Amino acid sequence: MKYLLLALCFALARGQSAQPKYCIGGAENFFQCANETTFRCLNRRLICNGEQDCSDNWDEANCACVRNRDCPRGVKCQKDRRSATSVCVNCAPGQRFRNSQCEDIDECTENPEVDVCAGKGACVDRANGFECVACPKGYGASLRDPRLFTANAVYNESETFRKLLLCADYDECEEHNPCSGGACFNRVGSYSCECPLNHERRLDIREDVCQAIGEQPLVAIDNGTSIHIFELRSATQTQEFECTDQIVDLSADNGLVIFATRRQVWEYRIAVGAKLILADFGNDEDFSNGDIRKISADWENHRVYVLTGDSVSVIDIVGRAVKIIEHRGNISSIAVDPLAGYLFHSEFGRVRRSHLDGSIESTNIIFTALPADDLPDIEVLAVDPNLKYVYYIHNRVLYSFDYDGQRAVIMTGSADYTRLEPFEDLLYATYRVANSDSIVTIGRTGYSVGAQRESTVQSFKGTSPKSIAIIQSAKFPTRPEPMNSCLRKPCSSDWCFPSPLSRSPSHLCDCAAGERSNCLPLKTFRLRPASNDILPNEEKSAVRGASVPITAEMTKVGFIIPIVLVFLNSGLD
Ligand SMILES: *[C@@H]1O[C@H](CO)[C@@H](O)[C@H](O)[C@H]1NC(C)=O
Ligand SMILES: *[C@@H]1O[C@H](CO)[C@@H](O)[C@H](O)[C@H]1NC(C)=O
Ligand SMILES: *[C@@H]1O[C@H](CO)[C@@H](O)[C@H](O)[C@H]1NC(C)=O
Ligand SMILES: *[C@@H]1O[C@H](CO)[C@@H](O)[C@H](O)[C@H]1NC(C)=O
Repeated sequence: MKYLLLALCFALARGQSAQPKYCIGGAENFFQCANETTFRCLNRRLICNGEQDCSDNWDEANCACVRNRDCPRGVKCQKDRRSATSVCVNCAPGQRFRNSQCEDIDECTENPEVDVCAGKGACVDRANGFECVACPKGYGASLRDPRLFTANAVYNESETFRKLLLCADYDECEEHNPCSGGACFNRVGSYSCECPLNHERRLDIREDVCQAIGEQPLVAIDNGTSIHIFELRSATQTQEFECTDQIVDLSADNGLVIFATRRQVWEYRIAVGAKLILADFGNDEDFSNGDIRKISADWENHRVYVLTGDSVSVIDIVGRAVKIIEHRGNISSIAVDPLAGYLFHSEFGRVRRSHLDGSIESTNIIFTALPADDLPDIEVLAVDPNLKYVYYIHNRVLYSFDYDGQRAVIMTGSADYTRLEPFEDLLYATYRVANSDSIVTIGRTGYSVGAQRESTVQSFKGTSPKSIAIIQSAKFPTRPEPMNSCLRKPCSSDWCFPSPLSRSPSHLCDCAAGERSNCLPLKTFRLRPASNDILPNEEKSAVRGASVPITAEMTKVGFIIPIVLVFLNSGLD
């Protein structure tokens, strides 16, 4: 319309050189009478003002009212100055007449200067007004992502959760440093005056963050066929090795990269540069639907949780496996925190929490994501054992919440990532489409003084990252010895699972030998091939301190355990 009027102005002006060329103030404020041949700029306020300004009365012809009092009581005279019309309208409360119809007024954003909830809650626009949602303690009122706004309007599953989505974390540190002038680390819904476990404050010109105590962190990056190991901070490559089959997932333990192909689980000892097969699901009929989807290392009990199309199994370092959960293709992601004693798994927008042996508690669904409008999508789970936080992607929304599913916030609504790895003040993520050498880093709370970092990308030359695992000892915290009762070998079977901290009993045994009267024995399998422990392309000389005869004796379980433990220990320091 604007341009049309301007064009009209020019067209008319050309023939009538004495007339103005355009209306100062623009077409928004001025109009031209419909049937007039002489160019005239008339102020829009002259439309429906009760006085004829155009020779054909165009400015008044279609006006039903001039003032509110021309309309019935309580009904407004609404003018549309573009179409030169006015009507008496009775829009519902919270609506206004605009563009020839009653439309919702967004009271929350109408006047950005004014907090309509006066700091007492998050403003939620409703069709007939607005609502101030009181935020839980530790959350400030804020909601700025329109996508979540829409999702919320229909979300009805959990009132508490809905509120959390509407309420952004409130930065206690910024508001009034509660740490008496010392470092203050904002957390979701709270704060801390100390760094998370196994981290210490490091202050330099650019940042003030909690850095992992210990050695320089490494990152293993797979491109589907090869794994590249980089120093995380300098992004310089230190090692690279190829795999015989397509890699589906990566995990890590102290000094180890653990990786899975469709049917096998392997570990790679970084210090010695050697690969070792942990399990081969082969054509075992118990694992007929056994293509591996995800793995997650239990760094405390030295096991690997393996998600396949129909089960979750745990395998130990000598390649024995127990099936702990059977499912019908429902579980899409897993993450284990052996320190807390929990296994998290997601299915169709729900995150469940079970014990390390797969047993569930009454509150096993700890979190429900916003409903997804499209087909089932990639779900991603990751945990931070030091902060005791879960990071979860469902339908491209990245959530974080604590181990009880509380303190949930949405970190971003456009998380196009397939793998998440929390480390220090960042979440590292790989893109769905690995077409570059980039990894995304997303700032997170709990690890920094001041505002969390903005999202950015970090480049690792020569890779196209599919999945990543960061290797640094602070990522693998363990319980002090007396607290993991499994270390005292209380079970007659080899399958002892520590319970979550301060739960009783302190551990559960696989009841093959009858430790618990009412339990079902776990299904045990042997998945370690008899030979082929180290691939032929490994350099024996590179295997520092590994003169252990690890090939021939693999099938003798009782004998090999101590040796493998020795071998494992050599990778720990
Ligand atoms: C303009 O003139 C035409 C033809 O004379 C007429 O049909 C039309 O209704 C007029 N428009 C207005 C707004 O008066
Ligand atoms: C929404 O929740 C209320 C209870 O809080 C319930 O009565 C209602 O049926 C729910 N609506 C839908 C569409 O689920
Ligand atoms: C993965 O990396 C290896 C080694 O750098 C390279 O030879 C291979 O082409 C890469 N594969 C893909 C799919 O990028
Ligand atoms: C798997 O999902 C289907 C459909 O949602 C459900 O009916 C079934 O009970 C689920 N199975 C398990 C083992 O949870």
